[in-house]
Amino acid sequence: MDKDIVILAIESSCDETAAAVIKNGREILSNVIYSQIDLHTLYGGVVPEIASRKHIDKINQVVDKAISDSGMELKNMDAVAVTYGPGLVGPLLVGVSFAKAMAYGAGLPVIGVHHIEGHICANYIANKDLEPPFICLVVSGGHTHLVKVTDYGKYEILGRTEDDAAGEAFDKVARAIGLGYPGGPKIDRISKEGDPFSIKFPRAKVGNSEYDFSFSGLKSAVLNYLNTASMNNEEIVTENVAASFQQAVIDVLVSHSMDAVEKNGFKKFAIAGGVASNSGLREAFEKACGERNIDFFLPPPILCTDNAAMIGAAAYYEYISGTRHGLDLNAIANLKLGERQ
Ligand code: KG4
Ligand code: ZN
Repeated sequence: MDKDIVILAIESSCDETAAAVIKNGREILSNVIYSQIDLHTLYGGVVPEIASRKHIDKINQVVDKAISDSGMELKNMDAVAVTYGPGLVGPLLVGVSFAKAMAYGAGLPVIGVHHIEGHICANYIANKDLEPPFICLVVSGGHTHLVKVTDYGKYEILGRTEDDAAGEAFDKVARAIGLGYPGGPKIDRISKEGDPFSIKFPRAKVGNSEYDFSFSGLKSAVLNYLNTASMNNEEIVTENVAASFQQAVIDVLVSHSMDAVEKNGFKKFAIAGGVASNSGLREAFEKACGERNIDFFLPPPILCTDNAAMIGAAAYYEYISGTRHGLDLNAIANLKLGERQ
């Protein structure tokens, strides 16, 4: 039998300080996530400088715990992986510097991982049988990408957002209706109490490519609705606004994704990223894929939002294809999917 490949992975691109130990890209030996959300809630969003400082405070503890929870010693692992982009440059630099120091100390190679590739690979942990090719919708706070996963580590972007990312739209609308940060989970929760068909919000128009997305028009429509209702002294039912907004986002994500899967002749579809933990979205895709006989893959919510287990999964496929970074690996805030340093 081939030797097991065990990777220590680190993620610090936004407001989660996370470390995990992953075996053969699919098995979690440990997964530690320290979320800074409470800290940033005070400011209504992630403050990069505060995030960087908190990562410095926490990273040692988080990585130590991931190693001890795994029951292994670092020297017996095969590589140290780290997210090197895209993301906030200060937070990324904390993880990249820490990973390089750990790798150097233990005499292990460093593998830099693309954050979005990590999100996609969370599906390999959750679904042991999933293999490319498949289509994946990545919906996070910073990205909305419809991606053709042609092979391990090989991606083709079919569509992307022209303006706000889906998660960003959730966060902005949540702020407008007084729910605060982070908006996604809060809108998800109160939407269950509202009527998703009570207010007609626009389904975002298609942009340059037939699979592109646009969410800023929808966000403006929600703001206009709130302004008009308050000027006319009409009652605003927050639950209905949240549910109707969420439904508009879901409709567009589902219709574009199903078109992409069917027109490109795929039989497998996956979702990934923070917004993929949305319960309405998960149900809608479950139904849409069921009706079309498409195999649907989705990570559990804890592997949808930022974590290091997904970085370890992506790093395994990079490792076996020969990717090794040197100690000159740098953080790249706007790293493109498929691009390598
Ligand atoms: O993937 P992620 O943790 O970080 C980025 O890479 O951006 O995604 C965070 C985003 C935030 O915008 C958050 O509001 C959204 O994911 N989100 C959700 C839910 N949970 C997190 N959006 C909708 N419904 C949720 N349940
Ligand atoms: Zn993310």
